[in-house]
Amino acid sequence: MEKILQVKDLNISFHTFSGEVKAIRGVSFDLLKGETLAIVGESGSGKSVTTKAIMRLLPEHNSEIKKGEILFNGKDLTKLTDKQMQKIRGHDISMIFQDPMTSLNPTMKIGNQIMEPLVKHQNMSSHAAKERALELLKLVGIPKPEIRINQYPHQFSGGMRQRVVIAIALACNPKVLIADEPTTALDVTIQAQILELMKDLQKKIDTSIIFITHDLGVVANVADRVAVMYGGKIIEIGTADEIFYNPQHPYTWGLISSMPDMETDDDELFSIPGTPPDLLDPPKGDAFAPRNPYVMKIDLEQEPPFFKVSDTHYAATWLLHPDAPKVEPPEAVKRRQSQFSSIAGTASGDVRLEKSNFPGTKEGK
Ligand SMILES: Nc1ncnc2c1ncn2[C@@H]1O[C@H](COP(=O)(O)OP(=O)(O)O)[C@@H](O)[C@H]1O
Ligand SMILES: [Mg+2]
Repeated sequence: MEKILQVKDLNISFHTFSGEVKAIRGVSFDLLKGETLAIVGESGSGKSVTTKAIMRLLPEHNSEIKKGEILFNGKDLTKLTDKQMQKIRGHDISMIFQDPMTSLNPTMKIGNQIMEPLVKHQNMSSHAAKERALELLKLVGIPKPEIRINQYPHQFSGGMRQRVVIAIALACNPKVLIADEPTTALDVTIQAQILELMKDLQKKIDTSIIFITHDLGVVANVADRVAVMYGGKIIEIGTADEIFYNPQHPYTWGLISSMPDMETDDDELFSIPGTPPDLLDPPKGDAFAPRNPYVMKIDLEQEPPFFKVSDTHYAATWLLHPDAPKVEPPEAVKRRQSQFSSIAGTASGDVRLEKSNFPGTKEGK
């Protein structure tokens, strides 16, 4: 598979009054053509900083890329001038954020907001741009686009606004679309509709998508592959099926255990005890060690390398070392897995995850 974007050994720090926050500590991943890669992890794990680095949207006054490369079309984005980067941003790589209101101009008609980049960057005639705007509004599921095109953002509901934002992001046919928690600010039903749209778009356009979320339940609906982040690192990466049915890192087990259990009426969700590492002074071993119920001596002393589970699946945990004791994932993980697969009508792990298997989505509710 063709690699559209390669992030290599990225290290990013923020210089703050308290000291150097080592926010990203050696992140590497590839984004393949046409795939949706989800990045999941607790708040503060480095998801947004990683993707802001790709878009070169990190605050200039206190952030520093200490090391690493971000290769797009063979070019290292970290080395481009602001002017070169402007051409790429919104054109080759575009981004949608959590809150659609902040990405829209309240004083400008929706149609003009979609047409502007087309006329400006693609040298389209205004007639062609209008045609394209109508087509995009239709693509993202906005009814009566001929009327909607002349309306202002406040005339749209939250979910419809997010659709408009997605239409703008797709206007120039980007190679890469980054969606940073695009549904978090929306209510559950609307969330499900936007996710459905993202999945649908994935089939219709050949854009690669990086989908950021803290909610593993959402991931199953949209992702081909999943990267799990913890304390500024990727600690496990694999296909969506591998991450759900054969997770290896105790942190991934914790995330899966935090998903709602469909067999109990318990409203109280499990949350992983403890707190994320202090990035001002990251621990020297495995950053997850203090929260790891299966912690070993080596976890406190040495950082685990990536162990290969399959050609597509890697996890950074000493539990995968041949000398480590064999540890089974907790019951809570197995229960979630059997819930996914029993609803899918099969006991095997290699079924493609279906949206109806997950709570928090329209059908799963
Ligand atoms: N502008 C900033 N100044 C200082 N620290 C920052 C800044 N932006 C992010 N960080 C720190 O970087 C880490 C990763 O943040 P972020 O990528 O936003 O997490 P998330 O996974 O929730 O998106 C956090 O510890 C956060 O406090
Ligand atoms: Mg974030």
